[in-house]
Amino acid sequence: MISKASAPGKVILFGEHFVVYGVSAILCAIDKRVTVISEEIPQKEIIIKSTIGELQVPTTASINEINSQLRPFFYLAKKVAEKFSYNDGLKITIESEIPVGVGLGSSSACCVAAAGSLTGLFETISKDEIRQLAIEAEKSIYPNTSGADCTVCTIGGIIKYNKQLGHTRIDSKPKFDLVIANSNVVHSTDNVVSNVKLFRDKNESKFLELCEKEEKLISDVFEALKNNDTTSLGNSVMNNQNYLETIGVSNKVLQEMVQVANSNSYGSKITGAGDGGCIFAITDENNREKTIEELSKKYDCFSVKIDFKGLDTF
Ligand code: PMV
Repeated sequence: MISKASAPGKVILFGEHFVVYGVSAILCAIDKRVTVISEEIPQKEIIIKSTIGELQVPTTASINEINSQLRPFFYLAKKVAEKFSYNDGLKITIESEIPVGVGLGSSSACCVAAAGSLTGLFETISKDEIRQLAIEAEKSIYPNTSGADCTVCTIGGIIKYNKQLGHTRIDSKPKFDLVIANSNVVHSTDNVVSNVKLFRDKNESKFLELCEKEEKLISDVFEALKNNDTTSLGNSVMNNQNYLETIGVSNKVLQEMVQVANSNSYGSKITGAGDGGCIFAITDENNREKTIEELSKKYDCFSVKIDFKGLDTF
């Protein structure tokens, strides 16, 4: 038996880092996807194949023995086998069109698609159960995840996410699209999140003030999205970038990229953990080509559309 699922990558439009401390964030899924194929195999092994590496271990191995970036998929295989009392082996093949480690949700999309395809071997479960399973799996390598990324990769579209209050889909039909530029510097989300914690510990009142400003910005953005006010969205993007620079997650390259993008688009900022990775710019048919032309003089650059499908099983 074979089961396939695919899930989109994501962009954090607003609120990364602050979301870890209970502030809301706004994210969207993008039209770059990961596909995962799961197969039942007779030998008692868990085999994982992906562009970032391969793993082949006996089904009896425990999660603590797996010291690899592929740990979340081993976790999922064990968890799903246990849930459905399945005793033979599993083979998981991951095919991705999302660049790895640059803030576009590659790891979360893989967790969501793997959770969808593995459970699909046995039973059709709800998207929300798959989302929760994917978050659990991601926690096996990144325990502090806010869960925002796996949520948007599962349900697609544009969402508002809050760790305590949950998530809502924002039903707007946006007129804007996004241009993404990649610094090609791979970041470690865990390290950047730890550095932000150090900043917060040293600057408690400043950090609290920024959290309040971010929450206000998010509620303005909520309105701007409903009204399709692209100029206002662009201004909020630039303000959010300033908050991210204050907490120290930007660097010279990212600042330079943002400057180039700002002078051609409605506004741009880092997406994801920062200290490397990608920036995005808000564009439409009036400035998309010019933004790409200027950014691609120095950086890898491409435009994406919002994905409204989320997880797809087939
Ligand atoms: O892993 P990335 O680069 O997509 O960013 C994670 C976003 C953070 O807000 C920094 C952390 C989180 O768990 O939400």
